[in-house]
Amino acid sequence: MNLHDLNKIANAMVTPGKGILAADESSGTIKKRFDAIKVESTEDNRRDYREMLFRSTEAMSKYVSGVILYDETIWQNAKDGTPLVKLIEQAGAIPGIKVDEGTQALPQCPGELVTVGLDKLAERLKKYYERGARFAKWRAVIDIGAGIPTMTAISVNAHALARYAALCQAAQIVPIVEPEVLMDGDHDIDRCYDVTQRVLNKTFQELRVQRVELEGMVLKPNMAVSGKKCAKQASVDEVAEKTVRMLKACVPAAVPGIAFLSGGQSDEEATAHLDAMNKIGGLPWKLTFSYGRALQAAPQKAWSGKAENVAAGQRAFTHRARMNALASKGEWEGGLEKKVA
Ligand code: 13P
Repeated sequence: MNLHDLNKIANAMVTPGKGILAADESSGTIKKRFDAIKVESTEDNRRDYREMLFRSTEAMSKYVSGVILYDETIWQNAKDGTPLVKLIEQAGAIPGIKVDEGTQALPQCPGELVTVGLDKLAERLKKYYERGARFAKWRAVIDIGAGIPTMTAISVNAHALARYAALCQAAQIVPIVEPEVLMDGDHDIDRCYDVTQRVLNKTFQELRVQRVELEGMVLKPNMAVSGKKCAKQASVDEVAEKTVRMLKACVPAAVPGIAFLSGGQSDEEATAHLDAMNKIGGLPWKLTFSYGRALQAAPQKAWSGKAENVAAGQRAFTHRARMNALASKGEWEGGLEKKVA
């Protein structure tokens, strides 16, 4: 492992003014997104949609540091035969790859999941590196509910995240370590804070045990937020203040950067929260975005599967990317949204 090079890539991924486009929806998830805009989820449509994003020159060259791809996409070519990976590289962004293989029910723990995909991972990483991937992603899912999460679920998921991260670094690939505490449910922000803190502490304990170099990784956590069905929704300032406090308590300063998931927040909420945290300032790591839904909901709607809407889709994507890029520097203002709308 060359830690100096891993650290350089990790730093590039979290450059202030840029963030990560999570375009790594599995076949099942992208079908759900396409169903919502009444587009059939064929291989060609998935390719056309992603090609539209990666050819958004302004967004990709100015505001996007890296793109997380799904296995199908990393092997796909654009309509003119150029590999999609090349489009990303030509725009100056770094290609990345989701390498987990989804979740399975966790034995003895009703309602809880464990992320799988460690078997043969070393071989797969080698092929992804050859294709151009310089970072990877693995997502663990922790649900909050009556009696859950159990320590069992937290522990096995943290262990798998660390196994994955160590294998990535051995393959000269920067791991994005993503322990996601879901925002589904009626719990309040303080319960989210407590659970996320436990999950992050266990994750960093495992990373240490398995000798993962913190300078060569990026953390992708959820923010401390109220459950979607909670009657009392925390304000933007409360989310920012509690998320920063939680991360300061759990995330060593050796980690170059933290790139949040959006997790079902609205587009503007996800931007406002990131901005408010960066306005607090004085943080030991960079804070940016690695959004899926909060970057893509608008372009998906504008595109709706029609070739004549490609320019509108690209405009919508560029706008969201720019808003989040400003938020990564604490320079966003709500007024910038209204001007465009
Ligand atoms: P969301 O921003 O839609 O949560 O997606 C990010 C991601 O990569 C989840 O794994």
